[in-house]
Amino acid sequence: ENTRVAIIGAGPAGLLLAWALRDAGIDSIVVENRSQDYVLARIRAGVLEQSAVETLTRLGLGERLHAEGLEHDGIYLQFAGERRNVDFNELIGRTVTVYGQQEVVKDLITAHTAAGSTIYYEAADVQVLGLESKTPRVTFVHDREAHSIAADFIIGADGFHGVCRASIPPTALTLYDRSYPFAWLGILADVPPSTDELIYALHEDGFAMHSMRSPQVSRLYLQVDTADSIDQWSDERIWEALQTRLAVPGWTLNEGAITDKSITPMRSFVASRLSYGNLFLAGDSGHIVPPTGAKGLNSAIADVTLLGAALVSHYAGDDAPLSGYGETALRRQWRVQQFSQSMTEMLHRDPSDLQSAAFNYRSQLGRLDYLTDSVIAQRELAEQYTGLPF
Ligand code: FAD
Ligand code: DHB
Repeated sequence: ENTRVAIIGAGPAGLLLAWALRDAGIDSIVVENRSQDYVLARIRAGVLEQSAVETLTRLGLGERLHAEGLEHDGIYLQFAGERRNVDFNELIGRTVTVYGQQEVVKDLITAHTAAGSTIYYEAADVQVLGLESKTPRVTFVHDREAHSIAADFIIGADGFHGVCRASIPPTALTLYDRSYPFAWLGILADVPPSTDELIYALHEDGFAMHSMRSPQVSRLYLQVDTADSIDQWSDERIWEALQTRLAVPGWTLNEGAITDKSITPMRSFVASRLSYGNLFLAGDSGHIVPPTGAKGLNSAIADVTLLGAALVSHYAGDDAPLSGYGETALRRQWRVQQFSQSMTEMLHRDPSDLQSAAFNYRSQLGRLDYLTDSVIAQRELAEQYTGLPF
């Protein structure tokens, strides 16, 4: 078996790259270790930058996105019991669209299925070999049959825990990372959102957020301790904490049946390189952001937009974009890292800070007060939240 581009991972990065290549007439295959049902059911991010919407639309994936996606002009920042609006559209003429990652994945899988793309799900023992050679290979077991696929390029779109980054010799790679002393508990609830735009709130008890998935489904998050397990958080306790942290006078948070809940650790991570020989990393395999700025999914789409165009150039005879891919993508990614880190630090309380917690909390309130009052500061937030150019 052989193909031009072998893509490891059927998350948003892998599926979108395969789709962009198909659009340009370049043959690829996707190898995924989980089942299609599992991939479709995974609930994660929910906010698309304007450039991400444009990319999906240009590739013919915009129909349901435009019909069901919720275009938002801005967000609310809440602190000290006060809620203030930041209107990106008014500030810089750009917006974001609330559309679940699992909807993006569903649209991609529907499109690939209709087009007859080759995607191996439930592939076991996936390995990538000969990365420095002209004919790298992917080997795996599918339906008890051993496969070996030769390709021109291998794409590591296999997320943070995947095999591709781990296949780069450790001496050739530096990992830059930091963890945070808190985690996010996320819920999906069958209740119409109590807000027209997302609310990011800093409360003395910690961060809380009100997002949504549709006019009928709310998505909410709470800062919790890294050591907490989900069974310590009954539905009742979750709603109580959300009610406390999101409260403002004259506003009601409507509650509903919780249909999904989980706790996600938070980390910042960047690999020093996104290419090694004929292996290229895209999305979470190369970098992770804490979720506060809603940049994980958008970074994956940005990488793949760049990498797809670079591969198209390569097959048209110009190698420069592919040689420059890692550097270009990382340069954008470090700006995104800084934004995600500063949003996270502005909006969470650090439970490990025993020395200066009271000071730091008031300093955070000062930052939020300045930000929501200064048009200059808000324009900076607007530019970064709605997305840097791809
Ligand atoms: P992934 O979506 O991780 O896809 C990688 C794929 O590779 C998966 O399908 C995986 O099964 C497959 N794979 C892994 N190992 C192998 C292997 N060995 N062989 C073959 N296939 C393999 N971002 C936000 O902006 N906001 C959020 O609220 C948010 N919440 C999140 C919650 C969770 C629990 C997680 C994990 C992430 C969250 N993110 C969030 C981040 C965002 O979802 C990711 O940035 C995004 O999924 C990246 O897409 P990707 O395609 O690069 O990686
Ligand atoms: C969602 C997730 C985020 O990380 C964020 O910043 C905003 C919204 C969400 O899942 O809806």
